[in-house]
Amino acid sequence: VVLVVDFGAQYAQLIARRVREARVYSEIVPSTMPVAEMLAKNPKAIILSGGPSSVYAEGAPRLDRALFEAGVPVFGMCYGFQLMATTLGGTVDNTGAREYGRTPLHVSKAGSTLFEGTPVEQSVWMSHGDACSAAPEGFTVTASTDVVPVAAFENDEKKLYGVQYHPEVLHSTHGQQILEHFLYRGAGIEPSWTTGNVIEEQVAAIRAQVGGKRAICGLSGGVDSAVAAALVQKAIGSQLTCVYVDHGLMRKGETEQVEKDFVAATGANLKVVDAQERFLDALAGVSDPETKRKIIGREFIRVFEQAQLEILQEEGPEVAFLVQGTLYPDIVESGGGTGTANIKSHHNVGGLPDDIEFELVEPLRQLFKDEVRMVGQELGLPEEIVQRQPFPGPGLGIRIVGEVTKDRLDLLREADAIAREELTAAGLDREIWQCPVVLLADVRSVGVQGDGRTYGHPIVLRPVSSEDAMTADWSRLPYEVLAKISTRITNEVADVNRVVLDVTSKPPGTIEWE
Ligand code: XMP
Repeated sequence: VVLVVDFGAQYAQLIARRVREARVYSEIVPSTMPVAEMLAKNPKAIILSGGPSSVYAEGAPRLDRALFEAGVPVFGMCYGFQLMATTLGGTVDNTGAREYGRTPLHVSKAGSTLFEGTPVEQSVWMSHGDACSAAPEGFTVTASTDVVPVAAFENDEKKLYGVQYHPEVLHSTHGQQILEHFLYRGAGIEPSWTTGNVIEEQVAAIRAQVGGKRAICGLSGGVDSAVAAALVQKAIGSQLTCVYVDHGLMRKGETEQVEKDFVAATGANLKVVDAQERFLDALAGVSDPETKRKIIGREFIRVFEQAQLEILQEEGPEVAFLVQGTLYPDIVESGGGTGTANIKSHHNVGGLPDDIEFELVEPLRQLFKDEVRMVGQELGLPEEIVQRQPFPGPGLGIRIVGEVTKDRLDLLREADAIAREELTAAGLDREIWQCPVVLLADVRSVGVQGDGRTYGHPIVLRPVSSEDAMTADWSRLPYEVLAKISTRITNEVADVNRVVLDVTSKPPGTIEWE
């Protein structure tokens, strides 16, 4: 493992991803972890991330000198670089020599371990106030900028390296190469980490954890739960039971995808709970979006727990594990703990006995989203599941503006299926983040179809592009594609006589309409 020591800010996650892109396994540890504990993990190399502090600020994170004397190769970036410099006797001054953003870097030692084979002039991404003016003894200065005399240094004998800039961001044109030079040349690591290794490793870990007991996994139809279930299935086979709650709010074909394709690909035991009526009953007469969301969430938990209870009654108390599709970013953001947490299932609803505790199995807790997709692909899950765009938990229930009824759901399912089909046919799936299709059930407008007047509902198309769903812009789809979707929906879906396009960014609009 390569450890990425996190000095705050968002850089550590990005560095960890870049190390994995170099096919070397990496993990993030907090800078407060004692050096002895870091070394006990037997790291092949350690990377010190950037961070928001000045090395001279009171309470700024420090590092025990022992880290640099353990014989483990270390690469400091930005704050990590300055910390390496000051800890080993170099000089970092608050000179007022600030550099932010794209900066020209002058490589003075082109044959150095980090810079070999890269241009003597390259563009790097800087973000610092303090600057290193003298490298520690035994170090060679390998690069500078117009402002900073020591922008990179190395001590090849001790395997210590540092750069003032951020090689992990794409604006640093040779950043990935320099990181790889550190890993392969500096630290002598063989690039061997692949999704195949992850699967092997996780299968062994799951078997060790679960032993001869049984596990339950809730499937939502989304990528994470499907891949987690497939991985656990591979490890323990028939000891796993998957539960899928069919709330009737899924899109066309999605329930079948789970029922048929997922089972075909994995051979999992699947318990499908048909709760469509129950959800429709609970939603009857409700138009308020927040109330709808609460009802759907509440019913979902009740149905899922009822299914758990039934499995427990059928199979006995050896059902002790609950599989969850938790990803690495969730773990890092919640404090980065190791080991497994014990959770108590919500025993206040659904009538689970008080003393039942599930231990969590979280086979994706080391992975980033794109890695989860690669693992899913390698496990043979269908493309439609692995590459699925985001879809809200409350499903089509929050894409009908107005009351949710069976007829309206069927109508929206048809319209949505047409839009998806045409977007896929036009090759736009990767370009758009998602495209909610919304039924304005309480609005009617006049139209003419055939020889007659119609009085039907509008369908809204809401295609957006986004990086993370926090902000979004409306997608400029080709007119021909929009025209085709509009023609097909108005022709093929009864009671819809108008298709409109939502041209609002987020903010001010949210992606979903409710
Ligand atoms: P909004 O509408 O808030 O949506 O801009 C942002 C992203 O979140 C998805 N979304 C949900 N996902 N449960 C989910 O799992 C929900 O209740 C939920 N509501 C919205 C939405 O599809 C978009 O990707």
